[in-house]
Amino acid sequence: FSKPSRPMTVGIVGAGMSGLYAALLLEDLGISYEIVEANDRFGGRAHTFKFSSAPYDYVDFGAMRFPRTPVMDRVVGQQPWSLVNKLQSLGNPVTTGTFYLSHDNNILYHNGQYVYASDSLMGDPLHFGDQYHGGPGSAVPDCYAQITPNYWLGKAIMPFIVNLTMDFDNGYKELLKFDCYSIRNYMGEVLKDNTCTPNHTMAGYDQMAITWFETMNTGSGFFDLDSLTEGILNFYDYSGKDWYYIRGGTYQFAENMVRSIGRRKVELEKRVTKIAPGVSRLDSANVTRPTLRVSIDGERNPRVYDHVISTVPLGVLQRIDTTECGLSYKKNEAYRVLTYDRSVKVGMSFKTRWWEDPVIMKGKPIFGGQSETDLPIRGVNYPSYGINSTHSGPYTLLVAYTWGQDATRLASIQNDRSQLKKLLLENLAVLHRVDYDFLRAQLVDWEMWNWDEVEFESGSFAGFSPCQFSKYFADITKSEVNGTLHFSGEATSVHHAWIIGALNSAYRAVDQILTTEGWHNLRQKLRDNWGTIDEFASEGLTQFPVPTAAALRNAQAIMDSN
Ligand code: PHE
Repeated sequence: FSKPSRPMTVGIVGAGMSGLYAALLLEDLGISYEIVEANDRFGGRAHTFKFSSAPYDYVDFGAMRFPRTPVMDRVVGQQPWSLVNKLQSLGNPVTTGTFYLSHDNNILYHNGQYVYASDSLMGDPLHFGDQYHGGPGSAVPDCYAQITPNYWLGKAIMPFIVNLTMDFDNGYKELLKFDCYSIRNYMGEVLKDNTCTPNHTMAGYDQMAITWFETMNTGSGFFDLDSLTEGILNFYDYSGKDWYYIRGGTYQFAENMVRSIGRRKVELEKRVTKIAPGVSRLDSANVTRPTLRVSIDGERNPRVYDHVISTVPLGVLQRIDTTECGLSYKKNEAYRVLTYDRSVKVGMSFKTRWWEDPVIMKGKPIFGGQSETDLPIRGVNYPSYGINSTHSGPYTLLVAYTWGQDATRLASIQNDRSQLKKLLLENLAVLHRVDYDFLRAQLVDWEMWNWDEVEFESGSFAGFSPCQFSKYFADITKSEVNGTLHFSGEATSVHHAWIIGALNSAYRAVDQILTTEGWHNLRQKLRDNWGTIDEFASEGLTQFPVPTAAALRNAQAIMDSN
């Protein structure tokens, strides 16, 4: 049971979360493998940046928060096969801490108005309504603005959330029927609601109202660039009452996965330039086997593998020569056109945790959570780690977490560090109503991180545009070259922009290897030891049943927690 029926080697391209997870699975199945990583570090978008050796002077420039929901069970769930529990049983545990998604004293600052997270948004305290801006037609119609953005958003997407909760596969199929709409088009043209229309005629939501929902929920431009499918899956995934962070930073995940498989297994600075079918060879059982050749920059001869899992982001895959692999038109097109979101984070290292100081914060100290604003920084995330620490510091604050056009705009001034620093501190001062010079004196160091500029990522995370799930998804998850070349990474999962997507897709790729080989006993072992996944895109989706009454309650909880 524990050994495959013949020796075989898998080449894993990329040592991010997906590649390392594939290695853990193969290790457990007794299948040999090699991992080659182009960067001089492993971990991919699990990247904890340390300003100093002080215990809380770090920020996660990549993944930083983990909801405790059924979708994320493979990462932080209670099951023995969750990554957290597997690393524990492998003797390389990570420790989780409670991640506070919000705190009562978090600030919302828009249109020059302040409210706290504990305040109600009913009655338009942030002045989005047209009554504040010159009457009808000038801003968001008051009928909308008097209620909360999430009331309207929830009303529009609740049916899809309920479907996903009852049965993920069917819910996903239901969503695909509307896949060619952007989030904006769906709410403006397809959805019909008569609450705020003249004479209560059925029509879509008002366009200014739709932009308001976008402003209050996500990055600028996201409702146009992203498909309804992507938006709803994001909303669904970004839910849950309890959230976790990884103590010491998310990089601990990668670090401990590498410890578990053995550090020498991960070959750094090995950039793959080409993947091509190799000559067939006779294996030890005298069966003719197809092979794959993987060329590595600086190595004279290509490496020969029985299977290859490419875990690299699609923008990186686009630059690897696969011409001899005979990939379909659609697959090649997919690498080029599938949309990746932009995201920029800025971490600032401060002498003290001034945001937790009741005097500086005038009686409203902030412990974790995030403040949100229409200022260029858009979102400030307060660390859930190190709260009330008595250490002498410094301490890092995530002063800007931006997506979409907000990210591009911040990045556009990154070469003028003094201008950017001034903007960041000014925004922080206004948002928190603290003195600019005080913040400047508190500042020790700061760093901006832009995933678009990282050669080995070429983007932050996938955020598919209208039609892309329905037109390309099945193609990008399909194995090629007689079932020997496989594709993983968060972009090839339906859970974009989360580590769960990286893990699920690695599981699926390993399962595809076992399927090609006809090793049904090992497929069973995979399920016994590592559970099952809610997405088997290329072989038809599998059931993920949840009792209906509970599903409805869960859907409500998802809506409430957003
Ligand atoms: N998972 C990332 C985060 O939590 C990006 C993301 C945000 C994805 C919101 C979906 C929705 O910040």
